[in-house]
Amino acid sequence: MSDEISESSVEDLSNRALNSFENAKNLEELETVRVAFLGRKGEVTQILRSIASLPQEIRPRIGKRINDLKIELSALYEKKAEELQSEREGEGGFLLDPTLPGRSGFEGGLHVLHLVLKEIKEIFYGMGYSLAEGPDVELDYYNFEALNFPPDHPSRDLQDTFYLTKDILLRTQTSPVQVRYMEKHKPPLRIIAPGRVYRNETPDPSHSAEFLQMEGLYVDKNVSLADLRSDVSHFVKSYFGDDASVRFRPHYFPFTEPSAEVDMTCFACKGKGCSICQKTGWIEIMGAGMVHPSVFKYAGYDPDEYTGFAFGMGIDRIAMLKYGIDDIRRFLTNDIRFLRQFWGFSS
Ligand code: PHE
Repeated sequence: MSDEISESSVEDLSNRALNSFENAKNLEELETVRVAFLGRKGEVTQILRSIASLPQEIRPRIGKRINDLKIELSALYEKKAEELQSEREGEGGFLLDPTLPGRSGFEGGLHVLHLVLKEIKEIFYGMGYSLAEGPDVELDYYNFEALNFPPDHPSRDLQDTFYLTKDILLRTQTSPVQVRYMEKHKPPLRIIAPGRVYRNETPDPSHSAEFLQMEGLYVDKNVSLADLRSDVSHFVKSYFGDDASVRFRPHYFPFTEPSAEVDMTCFACKGKGCSICQKTGWIEIMGAGMVHPSVFKYAGYDPDEYTGFAFGMGIDRIAMLKYGIDDIRRFLTNDIRFLRQFWGFSS
């Protein structure tokens, strides 16, 4: 082939090629032209490949000419392709078929725990609490030590706590946010701190290895147990209705003294006793107590000057009580049929 190549044959090729691209009437013809000239075995490509074997005298000029031609044809091809494409769309080639059945849109919604937490937060905002947060991956120091847990306390055990290293763990409660917040702020303070907590538990209808808690903390001069009772009771009545009341049962937590578990009137039997409340008429909803003086010392507060209360409730549990949900694992399995029942509940 190389011996037939001359300046005039390249000129001839150039004319033929430019004409063919210009005259392509549709995308199919354009593609045929592209293959004929620019394709792997196309005329232009063939000449480009054989440049090296051309006689020395004409090689540079032919080489430049054919390279320029290739660039020119490629640009022309792009332009033509665009023109023919929009022509086709104009004719309806790309348009939708109005006889096809429509696709119905999928509308999502907020997770039930998100909705429950939102309502609970709003009740506490109304009482003057503000929001605080802490990390899920926590130091042993904040999760246990500064909360006055003795070094050998059973809940520090690997059985209950997911340790990442000797000193770092997944928080087992939201109480570490108490200490973190007090380190940075001076009283008076009133915070809620919702968040995910983790415990090495075998899942069953009432246990999950991860769940939501919400901590509450109020510190000032002369805060008393009566203040704790009043805030907790206001929350329970606001969220569960005016006929719900609370009772405090003495309990033990290392970081509060005195400590209590808080029960509310069983929503199902209104206190008469049924299978849900195990015939007691009461349902446990949170742990609470007066902040232990040692915790104040860890936080840098003077326990002689300040007093405070703290409480911690399980948000999953509250949601289960409020909506009669029978299995805590439902919150995590993302079954859309379960979740969509709550989508209308957002305010
Ligand atoms: N952190 C405790 C728990 O997880 C709950 C609690 C919080 C108790 C605050 C008292 C005060 O069981």
